[in-house]
Amino acid sequence: MALEPTEDSDKIKLGVPQSTDASAVNLLIQNSPPLDTNSLYCNLLQTSHFANTAIVAKLNDQVVGFVSGYIKPEQPDTYFLWQVVVGEQARGRGLAKHMITALFERDNFRDVHWLETTITPDNTASQRLFKSLASDWQASIDVQVFFDKHAHFAGQHESEELYRIGPLQR
Ligand SMILES: CC(C)(COP(=O)(O)OP(=O)(O)OC[C@H]1O[C@@H](n2cnc3c(N)ncnc32)[C@H](O)[C@@H]1OP(=O)(O)O)[C@@H](O)C(=O)NCCC(=O)NCCS
Repeated sequence: MALEPTEDSDKIKLGVPQSTDASAVNLLIQNSPPLDTNSLYCNLLQTSHFANTAIVAKLNDQVVGFVSGYIKPEQPDTYFLWQVVVGEQARGRGLAKHMITALFERDNFRDVHWLETTITPDNTASQRLFKSLASDWQASIDVQVFFDKHAHFAGQHESEELYRIGPLQR
């Protein structure tokens, strides 16, 4: 999926993140509620050991978008997307979809046919994003509670619902 053309859309560059991007990623997530913030160390691991299953978007060398995740160790046909974030200045022009689509075009995603992610019931933007992706991919979505507010979060965090999207026709 291409980015919607705006005056600076051709300046947005996607790439495999590097560990030197981690602190900017950490700040972008901190500034993007309702995302849970991570330790910088966690972002360092995502941008090093898990860099091939992550993608970064930069505008004028500034990080404006990031997707993290991994191919499930016991289920190599499934990508688990942990977080997707787009900075406020770059929202609403298709960048989140563009990053996820670009990830799935990588050689190391050749055998991946399913996308999983978790979303809280109140995160409309994220629900719309993944429904839109499923529609583009002509794939179905199965939703069920994965981590429960009480059983897993001791009542301190909304339940996380697992969205399983696929199968993707490659
Ligand atoms: C959610 C988020 C990643 C969307 O980024 P984005 O680049 O603006 O999204 P896109 O432009 O690719 O939009 C994709 C689809 O989602 C819809 N969408 C995006 N933001 C939306 C919003 N706030 N409300 C309703 N729909 C929204 C778009 O209309 C589009 O649908 P369409 O393809 O049917 O037109 C961004 O708003 C964000 O980082 N939010 C904070 C962090 C977060 O909630 N992350 C997701 C949880 S892991």
